Amino acid sequence: MRVRIASNSCIKGTYYRIVLEPSFKVNIAPGQFVMLRPATPCNSYDPLLPRPFSIHRVDQSGNIEILYKVVGRVTTILSMIVEGDEVDILGPLGNGFPVNREVVGDNILIIAGGIGAAPIIGLGETLRTNYPDRPIVIILGGRGEADLLCVEDLKKTAAEVIITTNDGSVGIKGYVTDALEEYLSRRCDPGLRTTVYACGPSPMLQKISEITGTRRNIETYFSLEANMACGIGLCMGCAVKRRDRGYYLVCKDGPVFRGDTIVL
Ligand SMILES: Cc1cc2nc3c(=O)[nH]c(=O)nc-3n(C[C@H](O)[C@H](O)[C@H](O)COP(=O)(O)OP(=O)(O)OC[C@H]3O[C@@H](n4cnc5c(N)ncnc54)[C@H](O)[C@@H]3O)c2cc1C
Ligand code: FES
Repeated sequence: MRVRIASNSCIKGTYYRIVLEPSFKVNIAPGQFVMLRPATPCNSYDPLLPRPFSIHRVDQSGNIEILYKVVGRVTTILSMIVEGDEVDILGPLGNGFPVNREVVGDNILIIAGGIGAAPIIGLGETLRTNYPDRPIVIILGGRGEADLLCVEDLKKTAAEVIITTNDGSVGIKGYVTDALEEYLSRRCDPGLRTTVYACGPSPMLQKISEITGTRRNIETYFSLEANMACGIGLCMGCAVKRRDRGYYLVCKDGPVFRGDTIVL
């Protein structure tokens, strides 16, 4: 679907917010994504493939907001797009974060690193609305202050936001996993059921899986990143190993998976 761009601007450093104006309203679950490709002049097929981007938020008029980090060809082209330009999108795709009663525990812990903050605003807002009596703690991390996104919005959603930076420029010096370890060992009541949601780079997810899953058996849901060519289960480019046997496709079966069902 070709959609008009309502706005596109730098929010800090290499991070941007783009607002898409679809011609009809779409229902979106937190954690779902779209495949997006800048509309090219004269069908030049450059860039050839779309890229996956999480839906950050849908505003009251149905506009879709995406946060992105400029890392390569598509995101560089995106950063130059202006109001009134167009992009091609396919979506919403994927399963999104589970938020049903069977899944959500007494304590809710959300962990995000860098651009991983993009989909968790919607998740936090949904959980707060559906379970107002359950405390939400968010651990947000980045390399430095410039990599911390949405801090003010997250503070409105959570009972507590713990911030970590690798360089110590803001919050606790270290990784989100250091803060997670500290929180779980000292401040989290082990008698209560905790549910963890995490979104960020693969090494961060691996370490979280070790802390919550392997060592503590806490139910944890991971939103995975993978290289995607089609986004709809056709190219097999986004496979992730299952714990039992075979593979899941991140685009079709995910991008959110329960930690004990996959090999990170
Ligand atoms: C389900 C899903 C949701 C996603 N949501 C978002 C989102 O909301 N916002 C967002 O910015 N990205 C998101 N991504 C990642 C995004 O799709 C990639 O960053 C995308 O490949 C960028 O396209 P590109 O053409 O600019 O860079 P590419 O040409 O694809 O990559 C250029 C180089 O950058 C490296 N690279 C790719 N991703 C990253 C990264 N995140 N950080 C550092 N280096 C990287 C690549 O390995 C490659 O070497 C998501 C990915 C998935 C699977
Ligand atoms: S991106 Fe093609 S199968 Fe997942």
